[in-house]
Amino acid sequence: MWENLEVALEKVPREKMKAKPDQDKLGFGLHFTDHMLLMKWDRVNGWHDSKICPHQDFHLDPASMVFHYGQAIFEGMKAYRGKDDQILLFRPKDNFERMNASALRMCMPRLPVDNVLKMLRALLYLEREWIPAAEGASLYIRPTMIAVDPYLGVRPSETYWFYVILSPVGAYYAEGFSPTRIYVSDEHVRAVRGGVGNVKTAGNYAASLFTSQVAKKAGYTQVLWLDACEHRYVEEVGTSNIFFLLENELITPPLGGSILPGITRDSVLKLAESWGVKTAERQIAIDEVLAASQDGRLQEAFGTGTAAVISPVGELMYRDRIYQINNGQTGPLAQRLFTGLQAIQHGYDADPFKWTMRVF
Ligand code: COI
Repeated sequence: MWENLEVALEKVPREKMKAKPDQDKLGFGLHFTDHMLLMKWDRVNGWHDSKICPHQDFHLDPASMVFHYGQAIFEGMKAYRGKDDQILLFRPKDNFERMNASALRMCMPRLPVDNVLKMLRALLYLEREWIPAAEGASLYIRPTMIAVDPYLGVRPSETYWFYVILSPVGAYYAEGFSPTRIYVSDEHVRAVRGGVGNVKTAGNYAASLFTSQVAKKAGYTQVLWLDACEHRYVEEVGTSNIFFLLENELITPPLGGSILPGITRDSVLKLAESWGVKTAERQIAIDEVLAASQDGRLQEAFGTGTAAVISPVGELMYRDRIYQINNGQTGPLAQRLFTGLQAIQHGYDADPFKWTMRVF
């Protein structure tokens, strides 16, 4: 069935196409391209009715299960305009495989990865004029799956929609690549081990909002979450994984089940190792981080993610005390990783890991 998957095309007439936004003022997630990809799933037909169609409102029953029980998963990936105007994707199969892992955990159907990738490439070709060329800009890709049975009993839905929308973006944080200020939460937690913290499901983000608002009101960009049992070990930032450079060792928390297995996280570990940087995936207590920041052993901290890329952390706030990292400045390793990763993603540097896929 999957092998024969075909995609219908319903184009927006040229005169109805949207004006493209200013590439130097894109922000994040504000603008959407003219077209999207949509397909449906049910038990009898599997994935069917796939089409590239105008980016549009959905008509859904208010009883649709996604609105009540949160069966919703998504991914974040980017298309880059690179050397000679070639368009590249970065580890796209890894994103769709991760989406399938999320689907399994959330009792949702598997995606036919190769076919979805083929359809995505067709969509990107159609929307090629939307892929920005400005430095630091890219076309953010948001594949999403939602449960659409109109039913109020608690069970997995038996029908789903999968769609992909596209958004030209600049930096995720208002700070751009300048250091962010991060609020460490010792009260609320993001996820528990054995829960769904390691899958990209909408509820994880909803659960983070309250504390993120507290952090924002206090002047902080994001929340650094600690483990749910002891409120002691560092987990992730919610929109990104976290790294610390401590005595020349690059440390990030292990994938213990409650943090997202970030593709940028994995790429940073491999890239840093290839440069001879010592790396460790190990539990790191917030006390250890703060003590190291006070006695000068903590050299750098930064977040990693598709949207956030590499986002340096200049300050941590924990229990009303402020801890500066690298005098609030971007560190040399974060800078090198940011430049190195982007050069691979845009095809300007060799790609020894074979991470990039040329779209056209
Ligand atoms: C991404 O980095 O792509 C994410 O999905 C994080 C986000 C919620 C903006």
